[in-house]
Amino acid sequence: MAPSSSAWLARNPRAGRSLKFGREQQFVVNPNGIAELCDMLKECPKHQPTPLYSLPNLAQRFGVGEIRVKDESQRFGFGAFKALGGVLAVYNVLSGAVGEAYHSSTSFADVMKGNHREITSSFIFATASSGNHGRSVAAGAKLFGNRCVVFLPKFTTAEKEAAIRARGAEVIRVDGDYDTAVAECRRQSEANGWSIISDTSWEGYDSVPRSVMRGYCVLAHEAVVQQWRGAPTHVFVQAGVGGLAAAVIGYLWAVLPERPVSVVVEPESADCWFQSNAAGKPALASGKADTVMGGLACREISPVTWPVVGEAADWFMTITEDQVLPARHLYRQPIEDDPALESGPSGCAGLAGLTRVCTDEAAFKALKLDSSSRVLLINSEGNLGEEPA
Ligand SMILES: Cc1ncc(COP(=O)(O)O)c(C=O)c1O
Repeated sequence: MAPSSSAWLARNPRAGRSLKFGREQQFVVNPNGIAELCDMLKECPKHQPTPLYSLPNLAQRFGVGEIRVKDESQRFGFGAFKALGGVLAVYNVLSGAVGEAYHSSTSFADVMKGNHREITSSFIFATASSGNHGRSVAAGAKLFGNRCVVFLPKFTTAEKEAAIRARGAEVIRVDGDYDTAVAECRRQSEANGWSIISDTSWEGYDSVPRSVMRGYCVLAHEAVVQQWRGAPTHVFVQAGVGGLAAAVIGYLWAVLPERPVSVVVEPESADCWFQSNAAGKPALASGKADTVMGGLACREISPVTWPVVGEAADWFMTITEDQVLPARHLYRQPIEDDPALESGPSGCAGLAGLTRVCTDEAAFKALKLDSSSRVLLINSEGNLGEEPA
């Protein structure tokens, strides 16, 4: 029987095929200007679009037509897609302040050169992160010469902490998980007047998370213009709070003639999207988010993303902890001459999800996968010092 809902796979009852990308969606992910943003990034000497690899042997094994992987392990020499969000959001806050002061616009290069230090230097940035986002915000603050404080949950690895400190940020460890770190970041930032650069939203706070997602749209735009034999028919995207999923699903929906079938993949213990789908509104994860997939270890969704992910993601699924390592190995030691990719535990979660679906006949059928399907995956992080055992 096809699982319209099973223990690990559930259809979104709200995501009809006739749904239109409207104003509510555009508030979350605005496709206008993304091509120009990609052009602006070309001015950055370190920046290159990341490769979109084809894995034909794996596609054959799984019985689909094409598997393409957007390899964010090669983003900016940074190792994760998060480089696109935090840096850009920091810039947006600073350029907004310059614009407000002088009623004129400024450029990335201008702010980077310190041309408006009289306005920008007083900003102290703060964020909560499981590692990658904090590193991106720290990199942005360093680039523009600002102080930065990053709140880390207990489980973030020492390597990730060291990488944040190496970018000049101060680190505060909280005795708890990602959501505890967010709460502490909010508390201390309000008390100290720090500017929060959060990748998740809450009531009354959505402008910065939206600019973080705008940065992520760069990878979706690149994936669209890179070589396909046709547009993707399916996309498997891993979710923590849902910012990446909103950017990818929303952008593809906005620009492609047909919205690809989207599947949101989460760890079993951090299934806040899976639970929210069942509830029809934001809901907490069923577990404690104790997962090796640190970037996905969130108990709460980012509510601002609901009109895209909550309304239009077609399927929600979970993966188990023991499905992570095989997916990392599959990227690292691919079949025959498929390209080899370095991937971290959260980076390979989309592939772990695809593997689970393709090895379950009912799920494969329910998602309408077949030999003509073109599947997009995002290797959202490389091997950032967390060696597969
Ligand atoms: C490597 C990696 N992949 C995916 C995600 C999920 O992104 P989001 O929290 O926007 O859903 C994260 C978030 O930190 C991450 O670090």
